[in-house]
Amino acid sequence: MSDSNSPSGRTASSDPDARSGLDASSGLNGSAARGASTGHRASAGDADPQWAIGDYSFVVAASRLPVDRAEGPDGEVEWRPSPGGLVTALEPVMRDVGGAWIGWPGAAGAPPEPFDADGMHLVGVGLSEQQVRDYYEGFCNATLWPLYHDVIAPPQFHRPWWDAYVAVNRRFAQAAAEQAALGATVWVHDYQLQLVPGMLRERRDDVRIGHFTHVPFPGYEIFAQLPWRRQIVEGLLGADLLGFQRHGDATNFLRACRRTAGLATRGSLVRVPSAALGGEATTVGPRRPPPAADAPTGGREVRAAAFPISIDSAALGEIAKREDVHARAQEIRKALGDPETVLLGVDRLDYTKGILHRLNAYREVLKQGRLGLPETVLVLVASPSRERVEHYRILRDEVEAAVGRINGEHAELGNPPVHYLHQSYPREEMAALYLAADVMLVTSLRDGMNLVAKEYVACRHDETGALVLSEFTGAADELGTAFLVNPHDIEGLKDAIVRAATISPREARRRMRSMRRRVREHDVAHWAQTFLDALKQAPDPGPRAVEPGALP
Ligand code: G6P
Repeated sequence: MSDSNSPSGRTASSDPDARSGLDASSGLNGSAARGASTGHRASAGDADPQWAIGDYSFVVAASRLPVDRAEGPDGEVEWRPSPGGLVTALEPVMRDVGGAWIGWPGAAGAPPEPFDADGMHLVGVGLSEQQVRDYYEGFCNATLWPLYHDVIAPPQFHRPWWDAYVAVNRRFAQAAAEQAALGATVWVHDYQLQLVPGMLRERRDDVRIGHFTHVPFPGYEIFAQLPWRRQIVEGLLGADLLGFQRHGDATNFLRACRRTAGLATRGSLVRVPSAALGGEATTVGPRRPPPAADAPTGGREVRAAAFPISIDSAALGEIAKREDVHARAQEIRKALGDPETVLLGVDRLDYTKGILHRLNAYREVLKQGRLGLPETVLVLVASPSRERVEHYRILRDEVEAAVGRINGEHAELGNPPVHYLHQSYPREEMAALYLAADVMLVTSLRDGMNLVAKEYVACRHDETGALVLSEFTGAADELGTAFLVNPHDIEGLKDAIVRAATISPREARRRMRSMRRRVREHDVAHWAQTFLDALKQAPDPGPRAVEPGALP
């Protein structure tokens, strides 16, 4: 252990030389060998003596650092907040407890020096240009993303992309090990890092590992398409606790454990045999038959359960109370021509969000005169996302064509029915938009949670406004008094839009009040606490034994 009270700058990965080079072929950046000379060596029995031990008792490993690096007009480096729900969700938790955050800074090249911000120690993992293409744009966002979202777009399976995924996951696992103190808790996030728990477990059996999947976990018939399905299941099973958004996601995973790895499950528990049962804890064989009830002892049990994520509702609510934010909301309505009804959509420009379905429904509603013009306006905020991935480029063209068609057909000079904004905005501007909107449209075809729905609700202090919400979001499980829709059912979607736009103040209040209660009581702090408490209940770190007969 460290002999210093100041943890920052003392671990292997804080050596500047250790992080400068990028080796796309091995995925290692040279920090291992050099890092070992400055960091703490792994304990005896560690499988890889190159991996050092760090000083932080709480480590988060997520695809992204909670900042993006950008170049200013004069070439100076700037740090900007990253888009995406994960950062919004975890930032306040990290600030509260302190700890280290491992993530990719968002651009190819050498990562920045580790630095401290908002009570977090931030450690960048650099990706080469090739790794950005193969790992991030390829395996993460053109293989796993569409596969996990019900193959709305066809997933692509390429072996070099898989190799890159393995290499980058190993880099993250190493970086996490180098920050984690003996007995630390490591919380790994999302589909980009599913192999990290297994890789970490192989070398650091002292740490407690949690993994949370922010996206849906698909049904087995879809998951089974993945050529590397067994490795993914094994990688995740390196954790002590696996969190999912919905009960159905956890159930899908448990089924994948049975079908892919032949593991026995009971309730939310998976039995992972130890070496004593003929395999490493994280390298169970394919389709091994479930162990008999009188099988030899040894092994671990891993829990897979639902922990629906949320937002920092109080903090956003405070922003939405500010006078300047209210003034901005008024200004927005004025700029839109003071319409009677403002409809709002806010998404990353992603094919899972059902943006085209929403536009289709809106177009028909206008065409049929069910909502009038110019007294109705739709504001469509579609923030740029994954712009080099083919399906995202295609979607952008389609969305822009659809917006152009509606405006071409229905606009009067100075009064377009759709205001399309392909931009990202700071939180204050988002809060003002939520306040300005009478109806929020969330029409995802598949969505792990959808935090935008919760953000809208958190901002509506006066209990006005209406939420149209796809039943294919995790949020639909909690926000039952929204206008729930199947976005594929255009007639149903049109009805919901019209009903939401013409709702009585009394009904709006009834629906909104119940949703607000839920979002207030189940905020992101509650989510993190519940997950971390459950993780604490996991068996003590160190070699584990399962009592005979404790599992089927
Ligand atoms: C979703 C994922 C996150 C991801 C975010 C932004 O919310 O669950 O893991 O970070 O999208 O996507 P990006 O590819 O820009 O990181």
